[in-house]
Amino acid sequence: MSKSTNITWHESEVTKTERQHLNKQKSVTIWFTGLSGSGKSTISVALEKALFNRGTHTYRLDGDNVRHGLNKNLGFSPEDRQENIRRIGEVSKLMVDAGLITITAFISPYRADRDKVREILDSGEFIEVYTQCSVETCEKRDPKGLYKKARTGEISEFTGISAPYEEPRNPEITIDTEQTDVKAAVNQIVNYLEENDYI
Ligand code: ADX
Repeated sequence: MSKSTNITWHESEVTKTERQHLNKQKSVTIWFTGLSGSGKSTISVALEKALFNRGTHTYRLDGDNVRHGLNKNLGFSPEDRQENIRRIGEVSKLMVDAGLITITAFISPYRADRDKVREILDSGEFIEVYTQCSVETCEKRDPKGLYKKARTGEISEFTGISAPYEEPRNPEITIDTEQTDVKAAVNQIVNYLEENDYI
């Protein structure tokens, strides 16, 4: 639903395809999804570095970071998470239009919200990466001490404990982070990008 009326789309004289040629890559959104502590941020940071080192043009959007700025007015209710993902979806669409390999790391717990992002992008522009890890293992890792707070009730609506996480049904890539180290995870994604002619 749009509140704006009397608005007109202005075409650019530089196309997405031309930007991709200039950047020597096919732009795409690499969309990480998974529980807090499942490895999204860690793998996405390492992936960004690996892609940067080989000369590709990338940009990474991360849940905790984006919630410091663009989305600082949003909390963790289902409605706010939906709006969080909607905005990031639109931002990643702009970045794909700008010719970038965009990497996003958000829990994005609702399947419908992730599927909406897939829909607003063109075919092949959304690579869903599921960092698969049991709640038990994420809770053992608890890098930010949030599971502990969720258990005591200090944090409410915490994903995996008191709020749902809906697993992807057909992700392009699944990484079992209980068995796979960061380097192997990065290689798995880079191989996918090479095999499918993104880079
Ligand atoms: S999402 O569900 O809307 O996609 P997002 O990825 O932006 O979440 O933010 C998740 C991060 O916020 C977590 O990694 C964690 O550090 C922090 N956080 C704070 N409160 C919660 C909560 N109730 N549920 C999940 N994560 C939370």
